[in-house]
Amino acid sequence: MLALDTSKKLSFSKLIASGDLVIVYERHETMKAVKVCEGSVFQNRFGMFKHSHWIGLPFGSKVYSNKSGYVYLLAPSPELWTLVLSHRTQILYIADISFVIMYLEIVPGCLVLESGTGSGSLTTSLVRAVAPTGHVHTFDFHEQRAASAREDFERTGVSSMVTVGVRDIQGKGFPDELCGLADAVFLDLPQPWLVIVSAAKMLKPDATLCSFSPCIEQVQRSCEALRTNFTDIRTFEVLLRTYEVREVKINSMRGQGGSPCQQPPCKRRHTNEGSDKQESVSSAIMARPSAEARGHTGYLTFARLRCSA
Ligand SMILES: C[S@@+](CC[C@H](N)C(=O)[O-])C[C@H]1O[C@@H](n2cnc3c(N)ncnc32)[C@H](O)[C@@H]1O
Repeated sequence: MLALDTSKKLSFSKLIASGDLVIVYERHETMKAVKVCEGSVFQNRFGMFKHSHWIGLPFGSKVYSNKSGYVYLLAPSPELWTLVLSHRTQILYIADISFVIMYLEIVPGCLVLESGTGSGSLTTSLVRAVAPTGHVHTFDFHEQRAASAREDFERTGVSSMVTVGVRDIQGKGFPDELCGLADAVFLDLPQPWLVIVSAAKMLKPDATLCSFSPCIEQVQRSCEALRTNFTDIRTFEVLLRTYEVREVKINSMRGQGGSPCQQPPCKRRHTNEGSDKQESVSSAIMARPSAEARGHTGYLTFARLRCSA
């Protein structure tokens, strides 16, 4: 469960209990959300792990299998949830999510409208940002997706702060009862320009809107529509560069010139006796851009509701 009390991270405030959701972490690319259940086991290539051994441990614990393999048990933060959730649609990732929350000025107590819900990746972070007193109303016209999102919000413990509505937002706009109540509106829809007038009605004076679109043609149409009611229209593309950090072994020959400060501290493996050349093996930490780094995800267009004097 995610922390409802935002003054504390979940991992600092409680021990793992039966019924909790934990993120079983092998490495960055291999994580799985698991519900802890007294009599269950978790199986992976490292062996078998009994859930009963996990109960009562702090989040972050390293636990061992019957074959002495290990995994870490992490608390399901929105950041990790985004990496493990089941993809029913394209989703927003951390770089875009963090930029959206900052730029939309979302703080505890805010009321936020979102469409479409999709896989609920962004929604989960929106909820944590508005918690404990705010609320997120998220809408998707796809009934099954909305139902799956509701189930996920139950699992992650945020359901009291989010309402999932089934509605064609492009066709009908946001519901009238939310008129003038929203601190922020977020759109991830194929034709966001159809929703701009409705979004303007929902927002409080000086509140902000963001629309995510993968294609620049969608951005152009949205910006055209925004000019009627909005000001400070800005589009961003958030490009994240990920680095792989790893330890590498370096073979080096001493006594062949080169300044001593160019030689990293080394552990000698082999020495050629009787020669003034010594072969040694040292290790160094190297960082290089990841070959699998994500490139373009989409464009984020922000705008502020124009207030009439
Ligand atoms: C790309 S997904 C949103 C992903 C979401 N931002 C996330 O991070 O998980 C777009 C969603 O918009 C929904 N959608 C498309 N047209 C819609 C409409 N007219 N009204 C409401 N939802 C719509 C789709 O069903 C889909 O689930």
